[in-house]
Amino acid sequence: MFRKFRLSCLLIGLSFFSLHSVAAPSAKDAEGHEWWQHAVFYEVYPRSFADSNNDGIGDLKGITSKLDYLKDLGVDAIWLTPCYPSPQVDFGYDVSDYVNIDPLYGTLADFDGMVSAGKKRGIRIIMDLVVNHSSDQHQWFLDSKSSRTSAHRDWYIWRDGKGPGQPPNNWISIFGGPAWTFDAQTGQWYYRIFYSGQPDLNWRNPRVEKAMFDVARWWFKRGVRGFRLDAVDTMFEDPKLPDNPVLPGTSKYGDPNMDNKYNTKLPELHGVLQRLRKAADQNGAVLIGETWTKNIDELKLYYGGGSRELQMPMDLMFTTVNKLSAPEFRRQIAAADGSGGWPVYVISNHDIMRSYNRYGDGEHNDQIAKLMAGMYLTLRGTPIMYYGEEIGMENNDPKRKEDVKDPVGRVGWPVDKGRDGERTPMQWNDSANAGFSTADPWLPVPPSFKTRNVEAELKDPDSILQFYKHLLILRRQDPSLREGEYIPLSEDRPDVVSYLRRYKNQAVLVVLNMSGTEQKVSFDLAKQGFSGGKATTLLTTLSTHPKEVPLAAVSLEPFAVYIAKVTK
Ligand code: GLC
Ligand code: CA
Repeated sequence: MFRKFRLSCLLIGLSFFSLHSVAAPSAKDAEGHEWWQHAVFYEVYPRSFADSNNDGIGDLKGITSKLDYLKDLGVDAIWLTPCYPSPQVDFGYDVSDYVNIDPLYGTLADFDGMVSAGKKRGIRIIMDLVVNHSSDQHQWFLDSKSSRTSAHRDWYIWRDGKGPGQPPNNWISIFGGPAWTFDAQTGQWYYRIFYSGQPDLNWRNPRVEKAMFDVARWWFKRGVRGFRLDAVDTMFEDPKLPDNPVLPGTSKYGDPNMDNKYNTKLPELHGVLQRLRKAADQNGAVLIGETWTKNIDELKLYYGGGSRELQMPMDLMFTTVNKLSAPEFRRQIAAADGSGGWPVYVISNHDIMRSYNRYGDGEHNDQIAKLMAGMYLTLRGTPIMYYGEEIGMENNDPKRKEDVKDPVGRVGWPVDKGRDGERTPMQWNDSANAGFSTADPWLPVPPSFKTRNVEAELKDPDSILQFYKHLLILRRQDPSLREGEYIPLSEDRPDVVSYLRRYKNQAVLVVLNMSGTEQKVSFDLAKQGFSGGKATTLLTTLSTHPKEVPLAAVSLEPFAVYIAKVTK
């Protein structure tokens, strides 16, 4: 009863806020925060979201048909992974035309329809800009490889080999094997840090920069409100091509381990990103980075220090904590929160095993899925969800090598089964193929879709989906969760993560039990200015649904989430 009442109150707040945010899209709030700082982002993998024409592959009209679902969930912006024309060697991350839509996914008219349908619902569209490389079928590359003197020759990185059959240096592809492909026609090698069908663009050529910035402006004009910049770490290489230092051991592909000193994270890339930021600023757009940094200092560089660079470089270090470790999460959160930039929290994406499997213990997976949500959706910063995470979708890895679609899985089999498992169709209902398509989908859904789907979870008040919805409503409504500072608590506890989000004279307390045993925590928040001895529950997974708890003795069931208001 109490829960129902609370939800309807919260929903009233929700509709008010969305109307407000649609009316004033680029306005800053009282804290000087911009739209993307309070938006909840949601990554959509277009091949796998919804299939409107039943050919087994998701498409833009499919996405448009699900915007009401996303709005109802509490999503403000969707990041679409690439849907440009592409030979699909790397499922769209090999772009053969940056200013069009692949017929697999629809047309530019479908795209415009999606943008305007999004606008009506206060949902912004973010595209994926694949800056490091194009497809080898892009006109630029076709011309580039046609002769050593072609107009686009210098748009890519061509070099002579060290000798017959020997690449120019020892650089290794992220997808395995040498990072060079020989072109017999012109007798030179081209550099590609990913697949051979993904030649690296030469960003030292100002014409490349101009062409890619024109692409960005072209999409801004079409209503795109930002980009997720793919593989930015790899944009520049040392033009002298020195061999990289070799490290002990071999990779999962059997290559020598290597410090990618001369072909990743070169300082020149920051200049490009800062110039791109100017174009983004002129369009009220946000730049999100796929930034695989080793430490927080590297991440800080992407914010630009004194210069304006990426508003939202993703803290992907967060996704490398692969166990429920309170000290490790505290350390990561403190680092991101103290970076000086606006934190960006991600727990899974199309390249990483789903969080449901990474953190689940096989027994309490649903509780743990709620626990993870209870953490990353209540931190100071912007969360980026991954489609299906909100229903607790699990990985469905291929069982046989011949079923693998992802090139990474074909090279890495069986050690690395590739990324198909985390890219399976969204599970909408319990009909064939989880309601994604009436045709056989490009990747199979796991048998668990029968109960693990949107329709079923909407009916179940205790589902992961309902928990996400409640959380997102809370986030939207409560200024402490939107604006408040992050104050870590219980820092000596090995199994409990807890913190205060304090905003002016209000605060929200978040307590998370990261263990399978009951935990008791005692809080004295007088020092933080909140001496009221009790907490008023906002949202919890505790089976007793207490309305209030004494701060001196907060009891948490295994993997429980407790979120409450505290008072002065
Ligand atoms: C990024 C993408 C990944 C892709 C790679 C090459 O890491 O997220 O899916 O394979 O870039 O474009
Ligand atoms: Ca389709």
